[in-house]
Amino acid sequence: MIDDVIKRFKELDKKELRIITGIEIGMKHHEWVPIEEVAKFTKLPYSTLEYKIRELVKQNMVLATHVPYDGYQIYFDAYDALALNTFVKRGTISGIGDEIGVGKESVVLEAVKDPELSIGEQQGVILKFHREGRTSFKQVKRLRSHLADREHFSWIYAARLAAKREADIMKKLCDDVPMPRVIDNNRHALVMELAKGSILYKTKLEDPQWFFDEIMRLIKLTYSKGIIHCDLSEYNIFVFEGGVQFIDWPQYVETTHPHADELLERDISNLLKYFKRKYNIKKDLRELAEYVKSSEES
Ligand SMILES: Nc1ncnc2c1ncn2[C@@H]1O[C@H](COP(=O)(O)OP(=O)(O)O)[C@@H](O)[C@H]1O
Ligand SMILES: [Mg+2]
Repeated sequence: MIDDVIKRFKELDKKELRIITGIEIGMKHHEWVPIEEVAKFTKLPYSTLEYKIRELVKQNMVLATHVPYDGYQIYFDAYDALALNTFVKRGTISGIGDEIGVGKESVVLEAVKDPELSIGEQQGVILKFHREGRTSFKQVKRLRSHLADREHFSWIYAARLAAKREADIMKKLCDDVPMPRVIDNNRHALVMELAKGSILYKTKLEDPQWFFDEIMRLIKLTYSKGIIHCDLSEYNIFVFEGGVQFIDWPQYVETTHPHADELLERDISNLLKYFKRKYNIKKDLRELAEYVKSSEES
């Protein structure tokens, strides 16, 4: 799917980007953005505008309704294109590579960033598009007449909020807790460093006890900064010789959260189960939770 977006992104011309941007801005106030608003924003003559919008609708970048008036919305493909365009303009990415992860709530790709002042090598980076609140394009088409305004906005705003939330917490914690650094954030997307090493569930550890203890130490460190990750598992942890990094932060909570204890125990329990199943490491959940919450130095 994302391949299509990139291909289409490369084919989008300035006018089309402007049309999509006009619809995006209009969507702050309209469920369906009237063509007059798009015309005002783009300053394109109606004939050009209508032709271009028809093309965008054919490419599934734009959704159209004709009742009770001609109105338009963008969907994730177009939103992706707008974020990509911003990153390219800011120089935070200069090229896009393979898709490396599709979760329920995100699409993740490899990308490259040109070096500062064009000195040195290109850097491999990660481009993560949030997908919270997604309903399929078909579903949106089918449901569009029944959706209330706020529900309609939700897929764009839910994804944008999640990306901002993830970028903000990563920036806040990254000097203390090991994780990839965030390079840029726009709309529902983040550019970040590649995580170090390999993802835990795909890695055969030679010293699993050391990694287990290190993960617990980092959960404790995170907790001491007032934060619980809330989605920790072998799928969101990278391991390398001598270290560990946590990724995938948007669902974090603060330690003052009413269900903080439960959420912390769930994170620990996920890891306990994994290390028991795979490496026969056995530890007591309650004791670990007490260790994480205690203020003693680790
Ligand atoms: N910084 C990164 N470095 C390397 N791989 C990453 C990085 N961020 C995400 N990934 C890959 O993309 C997958 C999905 O990203 P993640 O942040 O976990 O989102 P989701 O909420 O969809 O699980 C990860 O499991 C991992 O394989
Ligand atoms: Mg994940």
